[in-house]
Amino acid sequence: MPDPKIVVTRKWPESVEAELRRRFPDVQLNVDDVALGEQGLRAALAEADVVLPTVSDRLPAELFEGEPRTRFLGNFGVGYNHIDTDAAVKAGIVVTNTPRVLTDTTADTAMTLLLMAARRAGEGERELRAGKWTGWRPTHMMGADVTGKTLGILGMGRIGVAVARRAHFGFGMPVVFYDPVDFEPEHGIADVRRFDTVEEVLEVADFVSLHMPGGPENYHLIDEARLARMKPSAFLVNSARGDVIDPEALANALRSGTIAGAGLDVYEGEPDIPAGLAELENAVLLPHLGSATLETRTAMGMLVLENLQDFLEGREPSCRVA
Ligand code: DGY
Repeated sequence: MPDPKIVVTRKWPESVEAELRRRFPDVQLNVDDVALGEQGLRAALAEADVVLPTVSDRLPAELFEGEPRTRFLGNFGVGYNHIDTDAAVKAGIVVTNTPRVLTDTTADTAMTLLLMAARRAGEGERELRAGKWTGWRPTHMMGADVTGKTLGILGMGRIGVAVARRAHFGFGMPVVFYDPVDFEPEHGIADVRRFDTVEEVLEVADFVSLHMPGGPENYHLIDEARLARMKPSAFLVNSARGDVIDPEALANALRSGTIAGAGLDVYEGEPDIPAGLAELENAVLLPHLGSATLETRTAMGMLVLENLQDFLEGREPSCRVA
């Protein structure tokens, strides 16, 4: 495919955009970083050979109707539940993602949420900035210890393992996990136990960190009944996908003390925040910052380019997902 027409749906790190411009004469960058929306994405699929989307672009089956010109969708991000990959494949489109390069950065975000929730860091900062801090006192804003507590991981893939290792080797936390896939994850952790059900993890863990993909298979995996299985002193951390949690059930559980707190980086229907969460002091809320470092976002962009180059030169892209 000589000089493919390429549409990049959002602004990318400067060095990656420079590389795109250097390699491809017909590339349309999004300098204003305004989301293309349904119409813009439909137009991109109709007119461009290559579309490079990301998690904030919704690409349901309808967008692939009408014989799109696009042959390659290089997603900037590891999660791709925003793309109907079956419909993309039916339309003859190859889809890739960006695993591995964001594992450590996303695991760092999960640990940030865990620590912030346990130590009431967001609440403390809000108090201080509001000029309401009256000084040190023995019972001021007491949180929960992290060291030595049990970490439960749901989804022991690359990121789940990276979080488990941080918690275990950094904070002496024993690890329990559930993963629906029958494989032996390499983690090097001695104090680890695999359970056959989500419930068993929820019942023993002091902190539960979610690392399951979003989409229909895990939709509202954490619902009212499962939240009720957690300890009242436990914390829930989600740096995976928002739709893995039923947000109304979570807000109720946080309000009623069914669980002690939550740290969230992702939301169903983001950028909207599910009703009721923003008012709760025991919810730490970040704006989907999981992989947001310059180094990692640059590596993600470069990996999209590597996948694209492979595709254009007739090789199998190493991160092909459909
Ligand atoms: C990912 O890579 O899936 C991040 O959540 C950003 O999309």
